[in-house]
Amino acid sequence: MTALRKMIGQAGYAAVMVAALAVLPAAAQSGKGDVVYVPTPQIVVDTMLEMVKVGPSDFVIDLGSGDGRIVITAAAKHGARGFGVDLDPVLLKMANQNAQKANVTDKVHFVEENLFKTDLSRATVITSYLLPEMNLRLRSRIMALKPGTRLVAHDYNFGEWDPDEQRELIVPEKKVGNPGISYVFAYIVPARVPGRWQSLMTIDGRETPFEFSFNQSFQEVDGKVEIRDRSLNLRGRLTGERIRLLAGGRDGVARHEFTGQVQGEQIKGTLAIGEGATRQQLPWVAKLVQRGELKRAADEP
Ligand SMILES: C[S@@+](CC[C@H](N)C(=O)[O-])C[C@H]1O[C@@H](n2cnc3c(N)ncnc32)[C@H](O)[C@@H]1O
Repeated sequence: MTALRKMIGQAGYAAVMVAALAVLPAAAQSGKGDVVYVPTPQIVVDTMLEMVKVGPSDFVIDLGSGDGRIVITAAAKHGARGFGVDLDPVLLKMANQNAQKANVTDKVHFVEENLFKTDLSRATVITSYLLPEMNLRLRSRIMALKPGTRLVAHDYNFGEWDPDEQRELIVPEKKVGNPGISYVFAYIVPARVPGRWQSLMTIDGRETPFEFSFNQSFQEVDGKVEIRDRSLNLRGRLTGERIRLLAGGRDGVARHEFTGQVQGEQIKGTLAIGEGATRQQLPWVAKLVQRGELKRAADEP
């Protein structure tokens, strides 16, 4: 567990929300459902959207949308489309009014819906500022979305799923929870590669079969590759559909670097063997022969 995770553990986040309730002015909405309403400061909204590179081709879904600021900013500043869901009709009315003021009603809307029932299939970007146990409940549904879908969360992460990027922001106007500081966690839904894969490559003029077996836990991949009479350990990572795996590089075995794009049951890319002047690059195509299961996380809800 990282120091950062420890620092903002469950108790810390609960304190954010409790403290938030205490300091919200009487006229403010407290939200409805599984967590109280605490708006994300605008500077943090801007950072969240920048970290996941929101653009005009994106469809953003904010789970628990409050006054709508995340989806409205995505539309007004980045040309994205999307919607927010909330259970609080007053906040939903406010969000729709804010969308009108920002002139983005053609791009965004807000609906009264339980976020645990929301259809996420249109999302290219999901945003959240929710309690940690809510994030964990949502995690497997988000992991099952199209590879490359981005997720960005304010102040609380998604447990054992390591963020692809995280930032700490100094936010002097933030008066609740950890006053003056916000944490942002960005993730990219990885392709699913666990199982057995095969390649046939021509190496030094010889047709050479490669047998891969991959295990996957979130975006981390490890396993083995059998090449002729050798078995090498593999280790690497997925960034959406992009995969990079390393094998060899010690005990007299040349370094093998596999990079490619996962397209369903095929991976297409390059194998680089060796380093420096002796490095040779070959086209690499792998085909899935038997699909495996993702490794179960210890914090699976
Ligand atoms: C911490 S606020 C975040 C608001 C907004 N996303 C932002 O970052 O400014 C959480 C919001 O989630 C809403 N909410 C809580 N439980 C919900 C549920 N089960 N379904 C939909 N919305 C929910 C609350 O009403 C509140 O507006």
